Formats: sequence, C-alpha cells, structure tokens
Amino acid sequence: MLASCIMTRGNDPFIDEQNDPVLLDQWHVVASIAELRRGPVRTILLGRRLTVAIRQDQPVAHHADGAAAATMLHLEYVWVCLGQKPARLFDIPELAEPERRVVHAGSFGVRTSPPRAIENFLDLGHFPYVHKDFLGLEPHTEVPPYRVSTEQDGQELFARDCRFFQPRSAANASEGFIVEYVYRVPHPLCAVLYKLNPLDRDRQDVIALFCQPVGPEQVRAHMLVSLLDDTSDDAELIGFQQLIFAQDKPILENQVPLRLPLSPGAEVPVRADAMSVAYRRYLAALGLRHGVIAA
Ligand SMILES: [Fe+2]
Repeated sequence: MLASCIMTRGNDPFIDEQNDPVLLDQWHVVASIAELRRGPVRTILLGRRLTVAIRQDQPVAHHADGAAAATMLHLEYVWVCLGQKPARLFDIPELAEPERRVVHAGSFGVRTSPPRAIENFLDLGHFPYVHKDFLGLEPHTEVPPYRVSTEQDGQELFARDCRFFQPRSAANASEGFIVEYVYRVPHPLCAVLYKLNPLDRDRQDVIALFCQPVGPEQVRAHMLVSLLDDTSDDAELIGFQQLIFAQDKPILENQVPLRLPLSPGAEVPVRADAMSVAYRRYLAALGLRHGVIAA
C-alpha cells in the first residue's frame, strides 16, 4: 500500500527521504484534538496522504487506499507511526502539574525542512532581530555560554543554563527580564522549551514544537503551550504564539539551503550555535536522511 503511493512519484529524488527508516519508525503528530473536534483532517505524512479522525474517542488514520495506520492519542494530538517497529514516544510529565493551562496554539504550514524548523526553535541568537521587542532587543544580543548534553542513550538532547534578556517573554509579561531556558529535544523532529514564568519565577512555562514531516521541504509545525497564566484568555495565549511564529515563517522559508546540512563546518559555527551544532550531530548519529544534506 505504501509502495503504490510512492511509485506515483516516479523518479522523484525525494523517494529515499520519504522512506527514511528513522522517521518511519517514529511517531509523528498529524492533527490536534482541537482541530479533529471540528471534523476529519486530510493531511500528508512523509509523502503519504492520510485521513485522520476521532471516532468514539479513539483516533483513526487511513491511507488513500483505505488501509489503516497505527495511531495514538498523546499530549493533545493524534500521532501516527508508519513503520513496523514503532519507537518509544516521549512524555512531557510537567504538563500534569497543577494550575497549568495546556493549549494547542496552532498548526502552521511552512515551506522548509522539518529539521530547519526545529533548529530555528532552538536558536536564541535570532531573538533580538526576528522577535524584536518581544523575545529580544538590541543591544542585548550576546548569548552567554550554556551546557549541552546528550542523554537517554543518545535519544535526547538538552541545552541547560540558557539565559537571555527578553523585553516581553510571554503574553502576561509586564516588564523585561533575563529569562532562563532549558531546551529538550526528545525526538528528531520535536523540541520542548522550559522557560521561566514571568510572574512566578520559581516555575516554568512549557512550549513544545512538534514538526510533522510532510516532505523534505515542507512541514506542519504544531505548537503546544502549557503556561502558568491566569490572566490571559486562550485567544491571547494563542495570539502571542502565532505572532511569534509568523515572524519566524518568512525567515525559515528564505533559508538557503532549505535542507539542513549535517557536515561539520557547513555553516560557520559560533559559540551561540552550540545547540545547533549539537542538534546536527544528534541527527547524524541517529542516521536521519529526511530533510537534511548528509555529512
Ligand atoms: Fe523565532
């Protein structure tokens, strides 16, 4: 059934990437529960057309020929695995903490490779230029050193002790402050950001980006926010994240090349790019082929 979908693509050079064994065996978000409440969703995952729905509280996904795909409900989304040996799917235990609001902030189509979208999410250096007056402001452009580590047998990547001055870090922020960040990459195409809450600076907001690989140069980026904010309504929380993402979209779509180069030194690293370098190494170690230029 998968072969028939792929054969229609003829001599398309994307074929091997669409059959990347690393991504076939991963679970990928294909739709939010919020979106599915409005009706079935037709979407594309790794070049395959899928129809996704929730029936009697259970997720279902079908290929164009009617064959079923493996599905799971997790973290406000339906996830699909196309492979024969589904990988472990990570959790975000912090979402179960009391007083948190968990909101799907949007699913954004972007003409870039899924790894470029994740790399951009991990980059502090662009804040003062792309998110001026929100996540950064000149002359506060320096990214202080932070710690990068690989954990869980190479399955997860972390950046800790990240600090950055942000004039308006969240919808409920009333003043600028030095925001502390932890980045976690628990899946080759998913990233979770733990960020100091602007009002309760002992606790963290969580922002997660789940990238659905439509194809090597097309992504649907699903954003989940879990915030400690009892003043902003859902529309304000969603509006803030959508404004930030709208600033990133043209930058992502104009990057050259759209595929992420994995060879060391392909794009000159500076200290602020330590997480980017680590992410490329992590993908290379996993053997990812989809949306990258192999080393
Ligand atoms: Fe950004």
